[in-house]
Amino acid sequence: MSVIPDIKELSDPVELPQGEKIKESLDEDISIRDHASTDMKSEILVVNDLKMYFPVTKGLLKRKVADVKAVDGVTFSIKKGETLGLVGESGSGKSTIGNCVMRNLVPSGGKIFFDGQEITNMDKKGLKLLHKKLQMITQDPYASLDPRMTINQAILEGPRINKLGTKKEQEELVERMLTLVGLNSEFKDRYPHEFSGGQRQRISIARALAMSPSFIVCDEIVSALDVSIQAQIVSLMMKLQEELELTYIFIGHDLSVVRHLSNHVAVLYLGKIVEITTAEEMYDNPLHPYTKALISAVPIPHPTIDRQRQRIILEGEIPSPIDPPKGCHFCTRCKYADTRCREEEPELKDVGGEHFVACHKIAELN
Ligand SMILES: Nc1ncnc2c1ncn2[C@@H]1O[C@H](COP(=O)(O)OP(=O)(O)OP(=O)(O)O)[C@@H](O)[C@H]1O
Ligand code: SF4
Ligand SMILES: [Mg+2]
Repeated sequence: MSVIPDIKELSDPVELPQGEKIKESLDEDISIRDHASTDMKSEILVVNDLKMYFPVTKGLLKRKVADVKAVDGVTFSIKKGETLGLVGESGSGKSTIGNCVMRNLVPSGGKIFFDGQEITNMDKKGLKLLHKKLQMITQDPYASLDPRMTINQAILEGPRINKLGTKKEQEELVERMLTLVGLNSEFKDRYPHEFSGGQRQRISIARALAMSPSFIVCDEIVSALDVSIQAQIVSLMMKLQEELELTYIFIGHDLSVVRHLSNHVAVLYLGKIVEITTAEEMYDNPLHPYTKALISAVPIPHPTIDRQRQRIILEGEIPSPIDPPKGCHFCTRCKYADTRCREEEPELKDVGGEHFVACHKIAELN
């Protein structure tokens, strides 16, 4: 009979049953991961030229007529214990990246490595083990919590599937998880509808933590909550990260929340990273015209300075990922676009100080 060890004990690396060694594979691809750090030891996640195309089909025979290029060549890495923030307008590919990392989706191209093992095409058996270490929390805890399950059952679903612990140890686990997320353990026999939105999000967090993960994909986890509750969940996530040495991908619409939590931030536009750097640099010195527009809309908690700030209004909608604009994908909305921008796609280039930007006119505009 397996037992449930303390959370810290469970954070030891899990032996994954399949996957080639990261080093061999990356040697081949070194040219496309030139902006990822080479310090592989501390990198828990490496995503390399990730592509996720969804086929668009037509007619009874479901003939493929096009692809939705939801993610189109995305490369990044995350160090253990750190947070990468993913920002960008609706439809830019944030959740698709999260779902590929979780391997809820099989990527159309590229490679994903978790804890030194390739997981891109991992089979079901491997994924079962992987999901002990890798968990996802989404925006709508009500959708992810089965209304017919008590909180106790919801938290124990994963450990029971994985046959972790005796009955008594599972009872202790539920109490420990609820206490960890700041909920009264006496609530354990209640149902999700008996809780507020913020409490339900805490239950989702407890459910994810019950598997003792080392990595959590947080997809818009505070977006549906009131501002005061958002702050409580954000500080809970930060406390848990410190105590349990967790690594996060934090997907969000609210750039000030993302800044608060992230070590690095990547800005996505139509399935591509247009800028990636440290959170501090991104907010103090954005270089891409799209990032500048996004940052200019973030309110500053000082009414006078906030009123004097120049807002950059983004005109038009994000184009369809089925037929993205030629050249720079942002050219249809960028006031600086010229012929080169409409013809040639800019590469993500290192501009120094851990800062990477995809724009032909970086030097000219900054
Ligand atoms: N299963 C799917 N089949 C077809 N297209 C999809 C599928 N999932 C996502 N897409 C498309 O891929 C693109 C990226 O979607 P995604 O959900 O990743 O965006 P997002 O950045 O998370 O947006 P939001 O901020 O609204 O959550 C969108 O155009 C979306 O319509
Ligand atoms: S490459 Fe051209 S269109 Fe694209 S962001 Fe830079 S200036 Fe604008
Ligand atoms: Mg999303």
